[in-house]
Amino acid sequence: MMGPMRPVIIAGNWKMHTTPADAGSLATALADATAQAAVVRVICPPFVALAAVRDALAGRDVAVGAQNVHHEAAGAYTGEVAAAMLAGLATWAIVGHSERRRDAGETDAQIGQKLRRCLEAGLRPILCVGEGLEDRDAGRADAVVRDQLDGAWASFAAVSPGGSGHGTGLASRLVVAYEPVWAIGTGRTARGADAAAIARVIRATLIGWGWPRTAAEAVPVLYGGSVTSATIDAFMAEPELDGALVGGASLKVEEMAGIVARAALTAHARAATS
Ligand code: PGA
Repeated sequence: MMGPMRPVIIAGNWKMHTTPADAGSLATALADATAQAAVVRVICPPFVALAAVRDALAGRDVAVGAQNVHHEAAGAYTGEVAAAMLAGLATWAIVGHSERRRDAGETDAQIGQKLRRCLEAGLRPILCVGEGLEDRDAGRADAVVRDQLDGAWASFAAVSPGGSGHGTGLASRLVVAYEPVWAIGTGRTARGADAAAIARVIRATLIGWGWPRTAAEAVPVLYGGSVTSATIDAFMAEPELDGALVGGASLKVEEMAGIVARAALTAHARAATS
């Protein structure tokens, strides 16, 4: 049976790198080196560089994303950024990145609220999930990812007008990134087949929430963790995976040119057989 036609997405997470002074030229160089119409491209710079990147990318088909949003809509949260503040600056947002779960103590409940805030602000959320090495070695990767998703969904549903029904608007906007913690910034990637197996767990979890199979099958699932131009093919070869969330390599123009070019080959091949 032919699967749904999902977009191929390559998102770059610049993490805590670049300044407003140099982010624009990097964004332009990346956009020009990765101009592949078949691939949806997203650049996620630090908050302070969002405006510079937005301006630099004007007229280029590259979306701008934030690396985080706060779980509340507004309030006494010193130093934080609400989703609504990103209006005109970003159209995507990463939520629940493992570095924030680790360093900022983000919980699944907060991450579910962040999903809600993203929808209210018209942002497309990239929800990050992934197990640590101990859980991978103990055979618990599936359970960890399922728990992270279920926890976020429960709190999202609790603060959403549509409740836990399918009609909350999340299904048509959600992107999930499977990022095993042990693969982030380590140079060690997951195996393609293992990442694909987790993508199946992710979509089965959405179906378990009562989402129609067609809606779950339409949610793009990305892989993240030490993706480079040399490692991307293993993931693009898996029909369940739809692209990558790239950290370290997303700051390197040559690397991104290679990654997006490889992803475009898959996008063309999938389009030809759909
Ligand atoms: P990495 O980071 O590509 O540097 O491993 C990925 C991520 O954290 O999204």
